[in-house]
Formats: sequence, C-alpha cells, structure tokens
Amino acid sequence: MAKKSIYEAKFLKEFCLTADNMYRLGWDERNGGNISLLLETDEILEYLDADKVIREIPLGFDAKKLAGKYFLVTGTGKYFKNVKNDPENNVGIFRISDDGQMAELLWGYADGGRFTSELPAHLMSHISRLEVDPANRVIMHTHPTNLLAMTYVHSLDTNEFTHTLWQMSTECIVVFPDGVEVLPWMLCGTNEIGVATAEKMKSARTVVWAMHGLYGAGKTLDEAFGLVETVEKASQIYMLTAGLKRVNTITDAQLKVLANAFKVNYRKGIID
Ligand code: 13P
Ligand code: ZN
Repeated sequence: MAKKSIYEAKFLKEFCLTADNMYRLGWDERNGGNISLLLETDEILEYLDADKVIREIPLGFDAKKLAGKYFLVTGTGKYFKNVKNDPENNVGIFRISDDGQMAELLWGYADGGRFTSELPAHLMSHISRLEVDPANRVIMHTHPTNLLAMTYVHSLDTNEFTHTLWQMSTECIVVFPDGVEVLPWMLCGTNEIGVATAEKMKSARTVVWAMHGLYGAGKTLDEAFGLVETVEKASQIYMLTAGLKRVNTITDAQLKVLANAFKVNYRKGIID
C-alpha cells in the first residue's frame, strides 16, 4: 500500500507546533531544549517503510528495553525556532535496533545530523516512566527562564523546592502532585546525567537540572507541555515575589484541602 506523506501526520504537526510554542515562550534559545515522542508502530507505518533504514547511528548506551520502538526526536544543535518550517533537517524518526545499541534512522536528520546530545536522559527517562505509566510517550527538556533563575536563589532540596512551587498558585498541587525532583549541577549530554535523571523520573514527572533547565514527562505532547508550563508559571510567581515581603500564602492545610478535593495522590513528607 502506498505510504502517505509524513507531512500529513498529526504527530509530526503537533510535534512541530510544540517546539514552536516552546521557542515563542522564550524557553528554548538557540539549540536549547530537546523533545522525544514515542510513536505507535501502527501510526508510523502509515507514512514510512520500516525496511528502509537510511542510516544507523550508534546510541552509546544500552537501550535494549526499548528495542523495536519508534521515536521522533529533535536533532542535536538544531534550533527550535526552525523546527516548524524545516522538520526534515531538524528532527528525525528512528527505531531502536533489536540489540538496543543503534538508532535505525527512517526519516529526517537530512543534512547528516543526528539525535540530541541528551538522548541518554530521554531514552532512560522513557524507560523509567513507562514502568510507572505504560501510557507515557513524551519526554521534554527545556530551559524555562524563571525556573532556571529560581535554581540560583532557592534551596535545591527536592521537598523544599516542591513546597515553594506548590504555594505559588492554587493549581500547582493538582497539576504536579508528584512534585519536582531536583538534580544538582551536572555535566549535560552524558550517560551519567541520563542515569541520574531517569532515577528521579521514577518518582516524579518533572526533574529540575539546577542552573540548566527542566525535564517533563507526559502521555501526550500537550500534557508534558502543560506540566512544564505550570512549573514555569509557578517559578515566575516565585521570582516576581522572592525579593518582596510576603504577607499572604497558601497554607499547608489549604494545600491538603486542594489535594483532597481534586483527589490527587500528593508527594508525602512535604505538607504532612
Ligand atoms: P542538543 O542541541 O544536543 O539537543 O542540546 C541542547 C540542550 O539543551 C543541551 O542540554
Ligand atoms: Zn539543555
């Protein structure tokens, strides 16, 4: 059966739109940020021939748990600004080889490029999140301005960071009841930061990289984007008020009322 044009694929359109929105919000300067979307085999085969591997790119780590799975991933060094108008050069679609060592490229990275340097953190985080929630499909890394600023002036303790963000607007504990995990500054683009991020992803869908940015996970691009957007908004409220005398706050008792009303299983050890 003839394949449809990849440019008609809803997942590609949504992916491009997401990168574009992230760019417009000022989260992804230059080549900052990267996105990976786990694709269903059926949806990909409507557009691409699974036997036509353009090239194989070594992963540099073991991704056997994801063998045979298809991913749409931004390219390294590529600008989010350019994704929407030129996806073929800025993003790629690949399958993880049976031995978990290679990315089998089926489309994209057309100028000879390759997947993001943060692929270890993405794929290892996919593995962690799929174990918690088999419906997870998105890992998103970005450099939101206020969140980044907050990591310079706030304690990097996971519980303290989460508590502050929960207090910054009423919806926070409902949108991220699992809180945010925080990693200290580490060298990016390595397997080590990938392992550390994936470990944190077992207990939360949001992981802060101090003095660098944020990782968010979700079932859909919208869900991951909404999560990051909410964390960034809370960070913005914090940064707007951090130097001022605070005269009102959302109390722990009120946070509990919210969690109970919205029936969310919030992270323990913070407000109780
Ligand atoms: P890439 O250009 O390799 O995706 O890296 C961007 C980035 O945000 C590094 O953390
Ligand atoms: Zn980054």
